[in-house]
Amino acid sequence: MKRFRGASIVLGLLLLGACSKDADMARPEEALFVPVVPAGWPAPPQRADNPLTLASVQLGKALFFDQRLSLGRGISCGSCHLPGQAFSDTVALSAGVQGRLGLRNAPTLANVAYHPLLNRDGGAPTLEQQVLNPLFDEAEMNAGPQQVVDLLRDDPTVSALSLRAYGRPFDLYVLTRSIANYERTLIGGTSRYDRHLLGDTNALNAAEKRGLQVFSGAGNCTSCHGGFDLSDHGFHNVGASAPQAEDNGRERITLDPADHGKFKTPTLRNVALTAPYMHNGSLATLEEVIQHFNSGGADHPNKDPLVIPLNLTSGEQQDLAAFLRSLNDESPLDRVP
Ligand code: HEC
Ligand code: HEC
Repeated sequence: MKRFRGASIVLGLLLLGACSKDADMARPEEALFVPVVPAGWPAPPQRADNPLTLASVQLGKALFFDQRLSLGRGISCGSCHLPGQAFSDTVALSAGVQGRLGLRNAPTLANVAYHPLLNRDGGAPTLEQQVLNPLFDEAEMNAGPQQVVDLLRDDPTVSALSLRAYGRPFDLYVLTRSIANYERTLIGGTSRYDRHLLGDTNALNAAEKRGLQVFSGAGNCTSCHGGFDLSDHGFHNVGASAPQAEDNGRERITLDPADHGKFKTPTLRNVALTAPYMHNGSLATLEEVIQHFNSGGADHPNKDPLVIPLNLTSGEQQDLAAFLRSLNDESPLDRVP
């Protein structure tokens, strides 16, 4: 089987051209897309029933930015997951079709391939299933499944890539799998912090290095924001909303009151680009988030025992903010040709 590197654009174009001639049959020998994975990171989990082929990720990318996936045809996935903001949105609550607001802040899609559960409450078990949430949500894309399929099935690019990637005409099966595969390619890990970890002593400045010490020391941040993705991908209540808040968080899925107000730990990669913050976008700046954790957050019976007043000095808080701003990826997350 041919192997394909994310960075090799020329090869991708050649393959695309070569395959358009005989696009009427499934191609099990279809080239794989091999994401660039940073040194020391685990390989992203793969799904046996949805191999990461070049054709599938190219189709997924085209669909991700296609406004025909929404009622009124004005909204794509990329309307709320902006590539320039690490695939997050710049507003607290994104506007979907007809300007309707959702319940939550749109998170970054960087490294979602590694998340065991999707959405802030973990309600979607796979990326494939998650695609259906925004697609049919009345406040997001509100698309009719059959209309979307009818509209896109005869598009020459969509139908050719669909046959190449999955050996079948375009349908919801192809839509969910190809978009999920495109999302699996969005892998970061190219920040100055990563260069620091690899031994480049000049990658972080003095303030950022002090901030890193606060992050993993007095700030206790790595207890939840640890590991290569700076997230345990677990669910915690960090006192970011009151006990009577409308958004139950993880409790919506488990129906366990002990999960009320628990949300998935977000990655802190590219965090300077993903404002506003928290599940509801209630905190506008990194300084406000740091104040939140330094204060110990609002009282809540489910609040994690690690979220307590930290008594960081203002200098330590500034250093911590400087460190968080060093986490932007220097290479684009999207390397699909
Ligand atoms: C109207 C804005 C909007 C649109 C359009 C939208 N999303 Fe989202 N997306 C969100 C919000 C808000 C969340 C958080 C939902 C939650 O946690 O319940 C989210 C969450 C996600 C997640 C989960 C990320 C995580 O960290 O768990 C994925 C994956 C995702 N969206 C992919 C997509 C795809 C694919 C599309 C297009 C089919 C799409 N989104 C369209 C706003 C949007
Ligand atoms: C008990 C686990 C835990 C600890 C400890 C913790 N966090 Fe978090 N952090 C979370 C969770 C969970 C969220 C999401 C809360 C929400 O969605 O309302 C979050 C959100 C954030 C956000 C917002 C990210 C975004 O994209 O919205 C930042 C920034 C952040 N934390 C930084 C820190 C820093 C800095 C520290 C240390 C001072 C810290 N966290 C300590 C679990 C934790």
